[in-house]
Amino acid sequence: MSEPMSKAGESTRGRIEPATLVAIREAADLLRAGDVVGMPTETVYGLAADALNPEAVKKIFRAKGRPADHPLIVHLPAADHLPRWAARIPKDAIALARAFWPGPLTLILKRTADVPDEVTGGQDTVGLRVPSHPVALALLQVFDSGIAAPSANRFGRISPTTAAHVQEELGEKVAMVLDGGACEVGIESTILDFSRDAPEILRPGAITPDDIARVIGRRPLMRGEASSALDAGQAAPRVSGALAAHYAPRTPVRLLASSRLCEEAAMLAAEGSRVAVLTHSVANPHDSRLIWQAMPADAAAYAHDLYASLRALDTLDADFILIESLPEAPAWRAIADRLQRAAVGSGEGR
Ligand code: TXA
Ligand code: MG
Repeated sequence: MSEPMSKAGESTRGRIEPATLVAIREAADLLRAGDVVGMPTETVYGLAADALNPEAVKKIFRAKGRPADHPLIVHLPAADHLPRWAARIPKDAIALARAFWPGPLTLILKRTADVPDEVTGGQDTVGLRVPSHPVALALLQVFDSGIAAPSANRFGRISPTTAAHVQEELGEKVAMVLDGGACEVGIESTILDFSRDAPEILRPGAITPDDIARVIGRRPLMRGEASSALDAGQAAPRVSGALAAHYAPRTPVRLLASSRLCEEAAMLAAEGSRVAVLTHSVANPHDSRLIWQAMPADAAAYAHDLYASLRALDTLDADFILIESLPEAPAWRAIADRLQRAAVGSGEGR
């Protein structure tokens, strides 16, 4: 395949482009030609391909190093595209799409025959959402069809929340990265499964169970909770975000109660370890042996900063990243989920 060359004859693949209308049109052309591009969304950056082109979708899996049976989310320009992709749409799903789209909610629905197996990992369901980032929406409107996009990181690693992160992760594997600034939400969308009897949250996100209950008048199940796991013959759809080890820094991560944070950090430092600390409420002890990263005490602001902070701490060659555990309140639940997985998957590949 011929690649665009700069005047100096170097490949221009992987370049970051400010998201002007010209650049957005170019990205849409690249998608039509079967290539993959980095796309900002309000949650995290996505690795985008034409969802109806199986060869393009395969490039996503190759670029990420992701197993082929992990399904992708299809991004739509608007809810009126749903019938092309979803076969049976319960009225509660329509109510939620009305309430939260464009926005960080992914609905799992029975798929139509149009949706390629490459997108769904061979399952009979498909994940769909309309993102609210103005650049994603503009790209979708110009493209005028579904865009498959997982987070634009290598498999198992921290999701990117800036264009530079995408370039770091994928380099020339993407044709270009549209720069839409830092992602507003900062963690991945809430995934709500409507393909079985009762709606069930497969991945927590900025849209909480209470938000959903306010619209449909009942609380969704949480993954692993109650009856659904017991329904014989109705295996839960695979969600790679549900693997215990995910979103993981290379540096070993430990979660610690606020009361133990300083003591533990000082102890490890005394043993000669290089220690980074991520905290939202503990005052900096000004111990010169510690790398101290203060996070916002507000959940939304914390989520916005989380992945960029983890990524930055992960470059410091520390022996440990100690993270203060989070408040129990519902607003923190999705973030706590990501920290758990970061801790489990951390420390690999060192
Ligand atoms: O916020 C987001 O959702 C971002 C942005 C780019 O939209 N995307 C994202 O994609 O997080 P990804 O692939 O990194 O995570 C999507 C998760 C995966 O764990 C996948 O297994 C699950 O959604 N998923 C996709 N389709 C599914 C389906 N039909 N059934 C069950 N899970 C599905
Ligand atoms: Mg991901």
